Amino acid sequence: MGNDKSGMHGVWGSRLTFILAATGSAVGLGNIWKFPYIIGENGGGAFVLMYLLCILATGIPVMMAEILLGRRARMSPIHTMKKMVQEEHAPKIFKSVGWMGAASGFLILSFYTVIAGWMIAYIGKMISGDFTGADRAISNAQFSSFLADPLMMSVYHTIFVVMAMGVVARGIHKGLEDGVRMMMPMLFFMLVLLFGYALTTPGFSAGWDFMFKVDFSKITTDSVVVALGHSFFTLSLGMGAIMAYGSYMPKQASLGKTVMIVATLDTMVAVVAGLIIFPIVFSYGLAPDSGPGLLFQTLPIAFGALPGGAIIGALFFTLVLIAAWSSAISIAEPAVAWAVEKGFSRAKASLCVGVLAWLLGFGSILSFSDWGQYQTWVTETHWQEEQMVHSEFHLFANVETLKANAPEGVAVQVKGKTFFDTVDALTANIMMPLGGIMIAFFVGWFMRREVIAYEARIKSTAFLKLWLFVLRYISPLAVASIFVSALM
Ligand code: TRP
Repeated sequence: MGNDKSGMHGVWGSRLTFILAATGSAVGLGNIWKFPYIIGENGGGAFVLMYLLCILATGIPVMMAEILLGRRARMSPIHTMKKMVQEEHAPKIFKSVGWMGAASGFLILSFYTVIAGWMIAYIGKMISGDFTGADRAISNAQFSSFLADPLMMSVYHTIFVVMAMGVVARGIHKGLEDGVRMMMPMLFFMLVLLFGYALTTPGFSAGWDFMFKVDFSKITTDSVVVALGHSFFTLSLGMGAIMAYGSYMPKQASLGKTVMIVATLDTMVAVVAGLIIFPIVFSYGLAPDSGPGLLFQTLPIAFGALPGGAIIGALFFTLVLIAAWSSAISIAEPAVAWAVEKGFSRAKASLCVGVLAWLLGFGSILSFSDWGQYQTWVTETHWQEEQMVHSEFHLFANVETLKANAPEGVAVQVKGKTFFDTVDALTANIMMPLGGIMIAFFVGWFMRREVIAYEARIKSTAFLKLWLFVLRYISPLAVASIFVSALM
């Protein structure tokens, strides 16, 4: 169990294991499922550029800060923040980082397990040959009928919750370490293989342009908020997951190098995933902005066209499932680690967290069918002969009723968020950036310099200075200005 004295926590076997585990946490559905569809919804290249800037200006510095805090205190995020606030005589408000993190952990886990369940469903669909020779119509129909069956979806959701919490219950050595060792290299290999396929499709250059041609007119405040939120989501930041992992990191490993490696791997996987999906989108005439279903509507067509595609496809969805698995365990870790410090057994703590997230997950499952019409943050716009005649905002509404109540001859457009969309936006776009900005602020402004320098093990003073400067000024300012402009 290494040389720490808390007794509660182990230490990762080596720096390499930490890198694998942190990469396992970072690389997941966010990279392969979410990133492509939000690029599609937010117009392509300009969004990708904003995302990359967010990774540099906030993601990397905040990740270093989060690991530093965990590694110093060697406790769960809730207790880490409590201890650090006392140690550094900082305002009590910073303790809320720990609590907010555990709360967003439940919320994120609840929908993350639902989408991971989709991967299980698609492994089965691939094996059974549902997609052999499939075109756009077949893959769309398969996906819609899947969404319309909440019962089946609940079965897969349940399987995944059990898988994830089972690993968490076994603890970091047996559970987390062994798993990620095998899974990460296989996933990378598979992505390279699929990228090779994407290169041969007629839509490759269109896909490439969509991702890298920057059209500044496509940047809206909304898309900047989404890019910022995603930079936190994809690096597992702002809610304590990486802090909890940091608490198991050996003290002698250098923070800067480690974080650079993790962030680079994560970004590469995301970019390659986009470069696989968009060429297929443009080769088969699919819509880039088709939302959460994008991955499921595009890739099966490609697999259906390949010799042996059923097997390759099944293997691919298995690897994504495994990537989601190694991420899900990190989402649950802050809450579980806290409960363990409170005296629960790991098994009991995992069971409680799992059951709560599982229950909440039904809200997301039903968002894609029976509850789809109940939405929050709804704007209702009435149009008459291309002219906007009326616009109204509802915090919560039944959008079917709104549409049905429209006056004769008036076209209604409603845009809102389902339960799933709401939980996703609340966590990624609000709670995580807020947690992240507080972590940056805490380390940048309240921690003693000598403690930071000692804990960070950064050899180059120039790099240390640059990091602290970004943490003090750039990261908080970037997040704050994006928040403020979104509110206005
Ligand atoms: N980063 C993971 C992904 O991109 C998801 C994830 C793991 C996460 N741990 C997290 C997201 C903690 C938010 C908070 O799929």
